[in-house]
Amino acid sequence: MIKVALVGCGRISEKHFEVFEKFNERIKLISVCDVIPERAKKYSTKFNVPYYTNLEEMLEKEDIELLSVCTPSGLHPVHGIMAAKRRINVLTEKPMAINVEDADRLIKECNNGRVKLFVVKQNRFNPTIQLLKKAIDKKRFGKIFFINSTVFWNRPQEYYDMAKWRGTKRLDGGAIMNQASHYVDLMLWIGGEVKEVVSFKDRLARNIECEDTGAAILKYKNGSIGVLQVTMLTYPKNYEGSITVIGEKGTVKIGGTALNRIEKWEFEKYDDDDSLVEKVNYIPHNVYGEGHFAFYDNVLKTLEGKEQPMTDGEEGRKSLELICAIYESAEKGKKIELK
Ligand SMILES: NC(=O)c1ccc[n+]([C@@H]2O[C@H](COP(=O)([O-])OP(=O)(O)OC[C@H]3O[C@@H](n4cnc5c(N)ncnc54)[C@H](O)[C@@H]3O)[C@@H](O)[C@H]2O)c1
Repeated sequence: MIKVALVGCGRISEKHFEVFEKFNERIKLISVCDVIPERAKKYSTKFNVPYYTNLEEMLEKEDIELLSVCTPSGLHPVHGIMAAKRRINVLTEKPMAINVEDADRLIKECNNGRVKLFVVKQNRFNPTIQLLKKAIDKKRFGKIFFINSTVFWNRPQEYYDMAKWRGTKRLDGGAIMNQASHYVDLMLWIGGEVKEVVSFKDRLARNIECEDTGAAILKYKNGSIGVLQVTMLTYPKNYEGSITVIGEKGTVKIGGTALNRIEKWEFEKYDDDDSLVEKVNYIPHNVYGEGHFAFYDNVLKTLEGKEQPMTDGEEGRKSLELICAIYESAEKGKKIELK
């Protein structure tokens, strides 16, 4: 039994609590924390565990093995480092930080404390994406020419007004850092490392500090070209969350509103995986998908010494580095090379 505590009892914490309930023979929730007492109390009552409104106090008083960090993005490094300094493993929601320097500090403190660091990238575990990744690993595409990722979603002003941190430079970032970060991660996981990037971003309609819309063109180290296109202004609701891969011997599009449906699957040569295409499609209850279960399964197996982490700090850092380069390109109006 891994003893877990959770900080940040907001919207995404629901998913984590669902996992703790489902995996109740492997993971035990021992306490919760939120600066808003009513939020912490709600889960304290539901799960019959103590609640705190101060993270330092919770870390001091409770015997915790894993801290799940579900606070606003810019606070993930601060909260993760507080846990790492006390030799507590850290699981952080995406993005792990909103700049590379803070991400590096978190990685360093976890290494110093000899604790594991896990970054939530649950979309990698979508059955549709898993099938695409298998096709990539089997080299079914031959040479990959082009990768496109489209995030045409809708976030009304009320969404941003729900919490002060949303859309701010200090704690969130815009549509690319927040909503599209899984898609950026997949463009790297599927396509490999990126060499350079040019981009535009703007705040076209919402009253927030950062962008509600943006686009980036990527040149991969292996020569492929990629395009990321993102807007939170799609009328009247979420329309598409997709990734398309075009290769010498195959074309695949995983689409739907959030990577839940295989819309195109065509390869030169037959493979038994082709028969799974219909089976892996699913109807999403929300854009988060169901990947948190598989993500935690890997976390628990890693802590039990049976598996390697799917997305550790270094893996989580890759998409953050690319997002920061996309921002830098848009802000400076020039092409940015990645290291
Ligand atoms: N994996 C995904 O698909 C996914 C989906 C949604 C959100 N997220 C990420 O989860 C994080 C939280 O997003 P959300 O939508 O749940 O936000 P939210 O505003 O609903 O919840 C954040 C909670 O953290 C609490 N909090 C803030 N500062 C705190 C502090 N110092 N100590 C304790 N609690 C504090 C707030 O009171 C709030 O209840 C973000 O980083 C976001 O990017 C990930």
